[in-house]
Amino acid sequence: MAKSKELACVKYEIDDEGIAWVMFNRPEKRNAMNPELHYDMEEVIAELETDDDAKIIVLTGSGESWSSGMDLREFFRATDNDPAARFKAQWAHRHWAQYVATSQKATIAMVNGFCFGGAFCSLAACDIVVTADDATFGLSEINWGILPGGNVSKVFADLANHRNAMFYAMTGRTFDGIKAVEMGIATLSVPKDRLKDEVTTIARELMEKSPVVLAYTKQAMSNVGDMDMNMAYEYLATKGLALRAIDPGGTRERGMTEFLDKKTYRPGLGPVSLEDE
Ligand code: ACO
Repeated sequence: MAKSKELACVKYEIDDEGIAWVMFNRPEKRNAMNPELHYDMEEVIAELETDDDAKIIVLTGSGESWSSGMDLREFFRATDNDPAARFKAQWAHRHWAQYVATSQKATIAMVNGFCFGGAFCSLAACDIVVTADDATFGLSEINWGILPGGNVSKVFADLANHRNAMFYAMTGRTFDGIKAVEMGIATLSVPKDRLKDEVTTIARELMEKSPVVLAYTKQAMSNVGDMDMNMAYEYLATKGLALRAIDPGGTRERGMTEFLDKKTYRPGLGPVSLEDE
């Protein structure tokens, strides 16, 4: 049964298939992230992480924008002389982005429109980014005198190559979804009218995998980037053993039997069945 919840700045719906559609919900402000939105996101992501009905988490925006970045009025100007309030809001963003980045569930950013400034940190936290071809991305900070801080520079430089990172940070020029894919900022770009269908297709594909294997795979892929070769070998060997011990569906053994003995399954072509025959 579908479930939904609406807070001041964020709402979500978990559909019957298990896709949790989370919406930044300040369309009149192009989903600019004020402190309240960050507090709502902390609550929502923590809740979805522990809700078995939510199998995949999709982050998207109400109206024509994904997120226009930090709210210049409520996040910046209102807290310029209130370091405690700024700290609290900043930490809330850092926390919820970290929750998303380390979620046991697959996370997809569905970029339906504008994505500026601080929104890149939210975007970078997601495993997969599907964008509308005509979405507008930009590091606008240069235009009004601040740095792409709050780790925007870091995540942008990590995702894009050096030449692109420099160019777009220094000029503040915008780019579309097609360019975002070319640069490595997004995974896939599609016409806007196909955006939700494409995300649903990917979500369904992910839901066919063993959830434990999927969680371990994303953890492995995220963590090895910062390791040297030897450390990565050691880490992956240990992680692989842990996965084999913990996987409740016995995915590996099931796959082996179906491929080698029963000859009913081709592992190169799709996931092994999650159900007992
Ligand atoms: N912070 C606060 N308010 C915002 C923000 C923002 N980041 N983005 C949009 N808004 C508000 C506008 O002030 C306006 O409010 P109002 O109706 O009370 O006047 C409302 O949202 C609609 O904005 P418009 O500019 O009228 O909408 P439009 O569709 O023409 O343009 C766009 C959208 C391109 C996103 C434009 O609003 C813009 O350039 N916003 C700033 C984007 C930006 O620089 N973000 C980075 C912030 S810094 C950081 O994230 C670290």
